[in-house]
Amino acid sequence: MTIIVTGGAGFIGANFIFYMMEHHPEDRIVCLDKLTYAGNFSTLAPVMGKENFRFVRADICDREAVHALFEEERPDIVVNFAAESHVDRSIEDPGVFLRTNILGTQTLMDACRAFGVARYHQVSTDEVYGDLPLDRPDLFFTEQTPIHTSSPYSASKASADLLVLAYHRTYGLPVTISRCSNNYGPYHFPEKLIPLMIANCLADKPLPVYGEGLNVRDWLYVEDHCRAIDLILRRGRVGEVYNIGGHNEMRNIDIVRLICRELGKPESLITYVADRKGHDMRYAIDPAKIHSELGWLPQTKFADGIRKTIAWYLDNREWWETILSGEYQDYYERMYGNR
Ligand code: NAD
Ligand code: TYD
Repeated sequence: MTIIVTGGAGFIGANFIFYMMEHHPEDRIVCLDKLTYAGNFSTLAPVMGKENFRFVRADICDREAVHALFEEERPDIVVNFAAESHVDRSIEDPGVFLRTNILGTQTLMDACRAFGVARYHQVSTDEVYGDLPLDRPDLFFTEQTPIHTSSPYSASKASADLLVLAYHRTYGLPVTISRCSNNYGPYHFPEKLIPLMIANCLADKPLPVYGEGLNVRDWLYVEDHCRAIDLILRRGRVGEVYNIGGHNEMRNIDIVRLICRELGKPESLITYVADRKGHDMRYAIDPAKIHSELGWLPQTKFADGIRKTIAWYLDNREWWETILSGEYQDYYERMYGNR
């Protein structure tokens, strides 16, 4: 099979490529990525020389480039990870989120229709469901939970999901959608909570916690997400949405304290800063459907996953220090300078 993976130079896409090349060496993987600030070509170095791997730099919104690639590769499956993915950036500048996350999805699906692709998989997020109150721990997101978005990021992802389902119903495009909770692990861009706190801790810099740090996220080790998508591609039902999450809810402040402890740094580094606008309180996935239909369960416990992740950042300083020394610095100054 030939599988086009978009956004494969980013965090989850790269981990997915490594997972697929290890578990399905018979398949050919073609990575299509624009290499935005979040895409990192060096991440893909371990697979670059492989015969069954190809990298193509292109924008998923570029109809001509996308169609030319489909014409050449005649893919069986397309998995779309390509997106603008950071909530704080979407609050600063929503435009590019709408373009990439919605129009890019449309462009890819049009190509899938034109070339009769057997499966289009949309990598979505639990953020399309909005948030849950902190005082109702009995509530979880199921696939039936209404879409109710908070940020321009989540609104753009929800719009794309609606479009994907519309292409299925209207044109019969064979689609699946997965909605996963927060991922963590190797190659996570250091603007996101866990890698940012690890990097700042190591530099003895302040650890900027939004609001009171009481917001809850449901963390999943990235490899468990990759395995879930692989299962959906092979055994998932067309036209269906699958939630992915491992019942691992944690408050932000507890994550930050844990990182301090693991790295032997004082909690006095923690600095409470102005809250994110429209900040979602709690995300919590009910993964019953993917468990009962596809037998998926997470394999990595948070205690192990976070240690592995911290060890990876210690062993791969060059990867993230290069990012931190580049244009990302301007973003950091803008985001945290006067907060
Ligand atoms: P990321 O920001 O680390 O990577 C995104 C990748 O997409 C980058 O390589 C970037 O260069 C590429 N890209 C961006 N715009 C593009 C365009 N117009 N054309 C081609 N490539 C483009 O993101 P991530 O955290 O790996 O997330 C991947 C997907 O998973 C996203 O769709 C995101 O919404 C979804 N998701 C993420 C999480 C999470 O916790 N990170 C959780 C659930 C779902
Ligand atoms: P993030 O990693 O941006 O993921 P998302 O917003 O998609 O869940 O943020 C995770 C949580 O951490 C979220 O509640 C916001 C919070 N946060 C901070 O408190 N400080 C920070 O510097 C960042 C980046 C996030």
